[in-house]
Amino acid sequence: SYLGLDLGTSGLKALLVDADGAVIGQATRSYPVDHWRSGWSEQDPAHWVAALHGCVADLHARHPAFGGVRGIGVSGHMHGATLLDAQGAVLRPCILWNDTRAHAEAAEMDADPPFRGISGNIVFPGFTAPKLVWLRRHEPEVFARVAKVLLPAAYMNHVLTGDTVGDMSDAAGTSWLDMGARDWSDTLLRLSGMQPDQMPRLVEGCAAAGQLRDDLARDWGLTGPVIVAGGAGDNAAAACGLGLTVEGQGAVSLGTSGVVMVVRDGYRPAPETAVHTFCHALPKRWYQMGVMLAATDNLNWFARLTGQTPEGLVGELGDQVQHPGEAVFRPYLAGERTPHNSPHLRAGFDRLGANTSRVDLTRAVLEGVCFGLRDNLDALRATGAAPQYLFATGGGSRSDYWLHLLATVLNLPLRAPDEGVHGAALGATRLGMIAATGCAPESVVTPPRACRSYDPIPGLVAPYEDAHASFRADVSRHLANLG
Ligand code: XUL
Repeated sequence: SYLGLDLGTSGLKALLVDADGAVIGQATRSYPVDHWRSGWSEQDPAHWVAALHGCVADLHARHPAFGGVRGIGVSGHMHGATLLDAQGAVLRPCILWNDTRAHAEAAEMDADPPFRGISGNIVFPGFTAPKLVWLRRHEPEVFARVAKVLLPAAYMNHVLTGDTVGDMSDAAGTSWLDMGARDWSDTLLRLSGMQPDQMPRLVEGCAAAGQLRDDLARDWGLTGPVIVAGGAGDNAAAACGLGLTVEGQGAVSLGTSGVVMVVRDGYRPAPETAVHTFCHALPKRWYQMGVMLAATDNLNWFARLTGQTPEGLVGELGDQVQHPGEAVFRPYLAGERTPHNSPHLRAGFDRLGANTSRVDLTRAVLEGVCFGLRDNLDALRATGAAPQYLFATGGGSRSDYWLHLLATVLNLPLRAPDEGVHGAALGATRLGMIAATGCAPESVVTPPRACRSYDPIPGLVAPYEDAHASFRADVSRHLANLG
């Protein structure tokens, strides 16, 4: 059997699959995110390790097949800076992907041509390199002790193997990678004040990173040698879970963050679009994606404010997607990456009247997220990516209403896989399986068998095109006001 670990922002999911890739069982543990200040987002890696042991204990107790685990793959939330000292101890809480404290440092680095030129991407505030520059300026005593910088998935690899190994798909989000060459860039490291030996060794996501430590294997009741794969950043892992291996195949994720991604068979950077161009977790492939920093998070926030559950709020909308509502919501609780690249943009409602109801506001929130995703799709198309349909995943994809609305706003068919809920965790098991068996990636990374389909609603496509255009104008005005 094979084990996939999906280290998410809100929790860890461990998925156990058999040699045919069928799911045997799963376990989850949640952990908190700390927002000590506005724009800050941190997590204690000790929570990840505790979650790992908790999930393993559950799987071990419930599934005899756990004893036969041969391969492990880790998927991680991207861009986080996990800092180790020379003894391998964690120096401070991990600064997460949605932490924007380093926006000034990111802007400085982004203005230095080699960063976009070599890494193929804007240096976004949440990326790893500007965090380390921030650290050097604000916590010099910690910076001086940094022996290794590991992304969250690479830190889990370290826990599992004792070695410091990461993969290219996750390293892609650091601003230190030469994206075309799939290797660390000495130039970008030097420009960031970092040393090559502070980076982990890199392997492809589906290649072996090492073996599970003997003591862990013993404690977990595992017998044979267990291979740990390079692993992946969560978006590349999700692509592996969905079988996205070929040019033009893509997905939209309605998760905490919102993502529209398309696989590319070559390296075609387009940083001016604010689209991300990252290595896939499979060799010789890249993918491009637009990222919204908050997707379902907007609905969760609105649910908290109104004392409702997200499901309850969406339930109040009924089954039929309506014409665009009067009220408008800008879905930027945490600033935005694609297409605006603005850490300062913030969320807001507009065009509320005395008769605006909670239901109207919920609709506005869902529509605002869909409009943001449409902006992402438009940015992707500007790079030449041409998806014919998209798989839809993430927590929000459980809502038929939201997916029907999204298909209409994107004017693109959506397919929501029944297994989609396993997304990145399933992709991680597949990486573990390829690394352990050496079998061809295409034989393992296959599309989902059963999907629900959502087509754009013909009579509503044009009204939503208009509504999207007025949303864009609204956001442009706000951006102009920010200066
Ligand atoms: C991708 C990104 C997010 C995180 C969320 O660039 O920042 O999708 O990986 O887990």
